[in-house]
Amino acid sequence: MLCSRILAAFTTCSFWFLLPVVFPIFADRTLAENAETGTRGTLKEDSRPALRILASDRDFNIGAAVNVGALRDSTRYREILAREFNIITAENTMKFKPLRPQRDRFDFTASDRFVAFAQTHQMKIRGHALVWHTALPVWLTEGDWSREEAIAILENHIKTVVGRYRGRIVAWDVINEAIDDDGTFRDTFWSRAIGPEYIEIAFRTAREADPEALLFYNDFGAEEWGSKAEAIYQLVRSLQAKNIPIDGVGVQMHVSVESPLDPQKVAENMRRLAALGLRVDITEMDVRLKKPAREEDRERQAEIYQEMLEVCLAAENCNTFVTWGFSDRYSWVSGIFKGWGEALPFDSDYQPKPAYYGLQDALMTTF
Ligand code: XIL
Repeated sequence: MLCSRILAAFTTCSFWFLLPVVFPIFADRTLAENAETGTRGTLKEDSRPALRILASDRDFNIGAAVNVGALRDSTRYREILAREFNIITAENTMKFKPLRPQRDRFDFTASDRFVAFAQTHQMKIRGHALVWHTALPVWLTEGDWSREEAIAILENHIKTVVGRYRGRIVAWDVINEAIDDDGTFRDTFWSRAIGPEYIEIAFRTAREADPEALLFYNDFGAEEWGSKAEAIYQLVRSLQAKNIPIDGVGVQMHVSVESPLDPQKVAENMRRLAALGLRVDITEMDVRLKKPAREEDRERQAEIYQEMLEVCLAAENCNTFVTWGFSDRYSWVSGIFKGWGEALPFDSDYQPKPAYYGLQDALMTTF
């Protein structure tokens, strides 16, 4: 297995994306052969196309969060991103603070570049995130706003940002992380300034600004059906009862190799949300390892990635799977979880890890 993965590392080079053009039948044939055998990973790994080819073949979105500094500076980064993924999200660039250096000034320089890259490479975009309790500028958090003023700022922000990219963003994380681990509403700048209605105001304004974009509530720690997932379920049900536009729930999925998720409980959560007519996107997956990582940790990491992608592929309401970065060279993990790292499918030299092949295996499995 290991040897074949090393071999495959040499063969996942950039010309694979041309294969469906040169041999249009290629991707279909690999999937069909796999369906015949009914098993995973039975194909010779050196005959495998990139993730986005496998994904597009089954009308699925496979993506990564983008570091715009790396996007600007690294050719290798851009090549792999464009070759492997058909959807991208901005890791930080579309958050409130970078877009709003001052109250009356928006700065779209970096986010425009990010959107242009996606369009050039025929990639979809998940917009992240319109309303969050962090990444807020000091002019906002330290201002003395009346409730009406805070509502006006929120509405203006959403109208301007969503309006600017209208028709170019398939899904927006409208509200990010509004619920605490104990299931109560998080105490945030927005909840204090406006009250819990900030959530409905945000969804309504986003729908008006781009009626085509899917609108998501996004959070962590609510991947499995459990107490936090239930609190989110109650929230989205109450929004639906008031006719507030919401299309889906994003599950972030930042996990560690020592505390993986139970695929059945994740599937159960997706089923419950499907029964409400809601989509579920996996929006920020990474699987951190304790450093220094061992080969067996990397193998286990591959299984976890594969299991979660398979749960999504098998669910009727999940068609988008995004990792929080793609190369260990650019990942938030080591900055925030001391002693942990190596959480992504490519290593810091851009070589595919077992996790990458786990994702390929999942995309070649028929459900
Ligand atoms: C993180 C970024 O990865 C970091 O670079 C930044 O310093 C902080 O935010 N949940 C989210 C993401 O919704 O926006 C966060 O991204 C990670 C956790």
